[in-house]
Amino acid sequence: MVCGRTLHWSGWDDAPVDDFLSPLPFAPGTVVPPPQLLRSVLRWGAVSTPICNLLVRAEALRAVGGSEDRFRGAYEDQVLLSKLELEVPAVISGQRTSRYRQHAASHTTTANPQAAQIEATARLQFLQWLSSYIDAGRHREDRVLRDAVDAALAVATPAPRRLASAGALARAAAHRVPPQVQRQLRRVARPRRPGLVRLGSLASTEPVSRFFGFDRGLPVDRYYIEGFLAENAENVGGRVLEVGDSSYTLRFGGDRVTRADVLNVDAAMPGTTFAADLADAPELPSEAFDCVVLTQTLHLVYDMAAAVRTLHRILRPGGTVLATVPGISPVSADRWAETWYWSLTPLSARLLFEEAFEPDLVEVRQWGNVLSAVAFVEGLSAQELRPQELDRVDPQYPVTVAVRAFKPA
Ligand SMILES: C[S@@+](CC[C@H](N)C(=O)[O-])C[C@H]1O[C@@H](n2cnc3c(N)ncnc32)[C@H](O)[C@@H]1O
Repeated sequence: MVCGRTLHWSGWDDAPVDDFLSPLPFAPGTVVPPPQLLRSVLRWGAVSTPICNLLVRAEALRAVGGSEDRFRGAYEDQVLLSKLELEVPAVISGQRTSRYRQHAASHTTTANPQAAQIEATARLQFLQWLSSYIDAGRHREDRVLRDAVDAALAVATPAPRRLASAGALARAAAHRVPPQVQRQLRRVARPRRPGLVRLGSLASTEPVSRFFGFDRGLPVDRYYIEGFLAENAENVGGRVLEVGDSSYTLRFGGDRVTRADVLNVDAAMPGTTFAADLADAPELPSEAFDCVVLTQTLHLVYDMAAAVRTLHRILRPGGTVLATVPGISPVSADRWAETWYWSLTPLSARLLFEEAFEPDLVEVRQWGNVLSAVAFVEGLSAQELRPQELDRVDPQYPVTVAVRAFKPA
């Protein structure tokens, strides 16, 4: 089957929302063997191959037996798509083949005020069906696929009723507290007036840790970086170049990796297979790597634009670069302090990569919020925050900025 690309189209109405292209799972022109596309879509909810974008042979549709009768009105398309992704190779064309008109008065939004709840239930039913369907088929031994389905199911499964009713109890109890006491409590919890904020154990000019929180657990930025790599693990494969060492290549690429190379600016670093300065790197071969894993490195190169041109040059057609850079961050206390030139915003990261890569093939993400930013600059670890505190994305507080860019095949 051939997978095109959809423009999420708000501009038809002069709406104050930008049009955007659906993110691609792989570089345009790549042929993806089954069930890799399904694994990728499950790992990264934002990646989808809307059904209106597909060109599928009729015999493939017949071979998988179409959709399932029990899915009607919701998710019947995703059921069919999953069956195809499990059995049929996919060509990622990257061509825009449809416009998906966005409007507030859409049939689905207005038809039912509980649309979001219905969607959540339908997604859970879809994933439960998918789980049993995979168990009964030829991919039942695929551990990576199983993990991806289990992770998607864990997100889609609502919290146990017990917790919901505990929340309801707390809300009911709150109503019994007199309003003036409630106001007082709110002020103590989140005081807005200058002078009322209690800084507690953060009231020091010395951070809790000067080592990004490595000495306390997993640093907050590593939580985001590793989440980004896990979502894009299907792109880590073939010949992979990683900066520093090959730990992320092996952890996220597994047996998809045919060769793991390591780049360092200094040849003395153990495991180095290429010693080069990314800003000017004749030592690195052109069109050689299927994937470059470049975590927390670009900010150490003064001429970042030249480094990104190198990345584009050394990628094979069809290759992917997975890069992360610091946003809101302390500067390190180790040797990298000597060349720590930059922090980036999502916008500067986008413009930087768009100078070397095709703009439509550059995807930029950000993670962080005020709480995780404070925790990170103080050197608290990710384990000291709750997942929901880490996962909330506030555009004003980018702690980690990530770029995924493709070179067309
Ligand atoms: C802080 S480490 C980051 C890499 C590590 N894998 C990580 O995720 O933290 C910095 C790495 O950037 C590399 N580096 C620094 N400047 C460089 C340059 N100009 N060109 C290429 N690599 C560079 C160093 O060799 C080192 O491995």
